[in-house]
Amino acid sequence: MSVSATEPGLASIDELIGAQEQIFLRRQPRSTELIAVAGEHLAGGATSNWQIAQPQAVWMSHGSGSKVYDVDGTEYVDMHGGYGASIAGHAHPAIVAAVSERVRRGTHFAQPTEDAIWIAGELARRFDLPLWRFANSGTEATMDAVHLARASTGRDLIIKVEGCYHGHHDSVQVSVLPEADEIGPRSNPNGVPGNSGIPRAIRDLVVIVPFNDPEAVARALRAHRSRVAAMTLEPIMMNAGIIPPADGYLAAIRDLLHADGALLIYDEVKTGFTTGPGGITARSGVTPDLVCLAKALGGGISVAAIGGTRDVMGLIADGRYEQVGTFNGNPLAMAATRATLSEVLTPERYAHLDAMSARLRDALEATIAQYSFAWHVVTAGAKGCVTFRPDPVLEFRDFLEIDARLGHLHWLMQHNGGVFLPPWGKVEQWLLSVQHTSEDVDRFATNFARFAAVLADTGASS
Ligand SMILES: Cc1ncc(COP(=O)(O)O)c(C=O)c1O
Repeated sequence: MSVSATEPGLASIDELIGAQEQIFLRRQPRSTELIAVAGEHLAGGATSNWQIAQPQAVWMSHGSGSKVYDVDGTEYVDMHGGYGASIAGHAHPAIVAAVSERVRRGTHFAQPTEDAIWIAGELARRFDLPLWRFANSGTEATMDAVHLARASTGRDLIIKVEGCYHGHHDSVQVSVLPEADEIGPRSNPNGVPGNSGIPRAIRDLVVIVPFNDPEAVARALRAHRSRVAAMTLEPIMMNAGIIPPADGYLAAIRDLLHADGALLIYDEVKTGFTTGPGGITARSGVTPDLVCLAKALGGGISVAAIGGTRDVMGLIADGRYEQVGTFNGNPLAMAATRATLSEVLTPERYAHLDAMSARLRDALEATIAQYSFAWHVVTAGAKGCVTFRPDPVLEFRDFLEIDARLGHLHWLMQHNGGVFLPPWGKVEQWLLSVQHTSEDVDRFATNFARFAAVLADTGASS
């Protein structure tokens, strides 16, 4: 039977959450102390709003292999993965060696170093796009991609998918995680500001469409003929659980966009290396005009890359678009990136990730079947999530229907059981690293079985 907020027994989910939050707080007295002092000079008591969780942010000490340790000394299997960046795990020997060696020879000149040539060549091979530049965050990469599309086409409008997050620059801060009462009709979704401080004039340049619907893209292009510079999307949505593209969707939108003279931009900041060596670009065979990479690329050091066709990236090559940044191609980031691509993200390690993912998936599906819950497990390479809903999620509006309390309770029970996950329960996914073992994923599966058992006790299962 399906589990929804209206079913008998689910009222006690709130009680379960309350009890788990108390356990969570009891386990972390030092985090509580640090939060109390941090707020004096650190705005909001954290270094990014996404580090703030309910009931409180977890302050970290260090990481090693597949584990992280909080300031109270508690060990966790790390499946948070620093929001999708830590595919190498922690203190991977190849990255420690590369970074240590580079640190001794100076870390910043604002001039290129030779590693950049090797990396650009390797990315060209993996993503089948010839020209590359570097930046420092996913936000910078998607910002440059939007600028490049506008510069290359001489057009201002951008088509963006409802519920996709592409970083925190103005052009993409529209309909990121809107509420159900804000989104408007599906046939013509509202452009909902994703933050305060986003000018109306910028929002008006963004046309919102649902994911997995080529007809909606065709409609948007017809309504704004020859005015759309590009459509930007995650080729697998990964900021609303995991939503894969339907068969043929990516090819269909590419063809529609190209027929109108518009470009296709993949934001592979999350999917880039977590779903395979050349991301969804390689897996789908539908190569975009521009691809944005970050997160896992640097093996834990801040770096980003933008790759594209000769036509579009030629604007950088001949100076029509100035792609700049003091820390672009920073030698420390380049050293870590080269080590990640050459020694961490190898075919043999991808086979290991696939094996760990399959083991976890099998265990979770067995538990779900045992309790007859109508949930399903969605995996994409090293990424995965459990969708607490009977029907597959095809677009953001389906995702809005999921009871957020289940994701939060699951997060708390994993945490209290020694597995660290991203705090935004139903929004985020787990990430496996190349250093994870069978014991690590089994700990997750055991916690999940406990979670299912307590929910079943509330009468929520058939
Ligand atoms: C798909 C996607 N694009 C872009 C970004 C922005 O990356 P960053 O936080 O490095 O600026 C994120 C961050 O979560 C993301 O998930």
